Amino acid sequence: MSILITRNIPEPGLEVLREAGVAFTIGQRDEEKGITKESILRAWPGHRVLLSLLTETVDRELLLGLGSDLLGVANMAVGYNNVDVVAASEMKIPVSNTPGVLTESTADLAWALLLAAARHIPQAHAYMTAGRYGIWGPNMYLGADVGLGASGRRKVLGIVGYGRIGRAVARRAAGFDMDVIAYGRDRGPIDVDPQATFAELDDLLGRSDFVSLHTPLTDATRHMIGRDQLESMKSTAILINTARGPVVDEDALVQALRDRQIAAAGLDVYEKEPAMADGLAELDNLVRLPHIASATHGTRGRMAVIAAQNALAMLAGHEAPNVINAEVY
Ligand code: GLV
Repeated sequence: MSILITRNIPEPGLEVLREAGVAFTIGQRDEEKGITKESILRAWPGHRVLLSLLTETVDRELLLGLGSDLLGVANMAVGYNNVDVVAASEMKIPVSNTPGVLTESTADLAWALLLAAARHIPQAHAYMTAGRYGIWGPNMYLGADVGLGASGRRKVLGIVGYGRIGRAVARRAAGFDMDVIAYGRDRGPIDVDPQATFAELDDLLGRSDFVSLHTPLTDATRHMIGRDQLESMKSTAILINTARGPVVDEDALVQALRDRQIAAAGLDVYEKEPAMADGLAELDNLVRLPHIASATHGTRGRMAVIAAQNALAMLAGHEAPNVINAEVY
């Protein structure tokens, strides 16, 4: 009985499996390469639990292909839109994720993107790297104030999706003397929150200087930010997405950035990751990162440990600690 790990995971997760004396196979060891459904199916015989990453599409077809030997899918990510949980539930297959441990690192990266986009950090860095810095100039790389700045005006941060990560992003805004508006399911019982006021999405978009997205990807949130929503934002606004690419209509975003309908954007995720919409890569008012919000040694190590612990529980026939579809038990 062993675990098929689709692609190499951080060492602390492998250590958990070794300590438990459980055999495992790593489907794809080359960090730069993905693994196809066919390769997963070829490697599967003899395994009982699939430990997957967000790069694998664990759909009905794959679940059926893994067959009755499959005891569970332990996904090493907090997001699980890559797994067909409905199909898994129908087949009584538990699916787990790795919540909680990436909240702070993701909030940090949302802020890094926000500051980078507001203050043209990547452009200025590239300028230095190219050896172009000849003389200081008063008009060089003028950006947007994030804190009070010379105007003394409190900037407005709009947070779309006010769960664990959205709240962690809001907490950091206090240090910049910002006003935070939030839109999300988790308003709390009395709509009162110490660090944000709540608003409907349209209202939030119209009032925010910065908009940061923190919703999971579901049918309800797919293309939640499209042409109309971008049009309703301020022309000085900056959009940050560290959630999931398809929450934003990427073609509409390219257009909005090109037309300077909004000032800039910072993206860690893409609609058809790793591909980008036509024109996206050429924009000079976009900061783009390769999905690294949770990429700290500590966080990725903990994510791997949690995924391994879930996989071990599934293998032993116990309820996985972070099961998403507990109704299968
Ligand atoms: C990363 O995007 C995750 O969902 O863990």
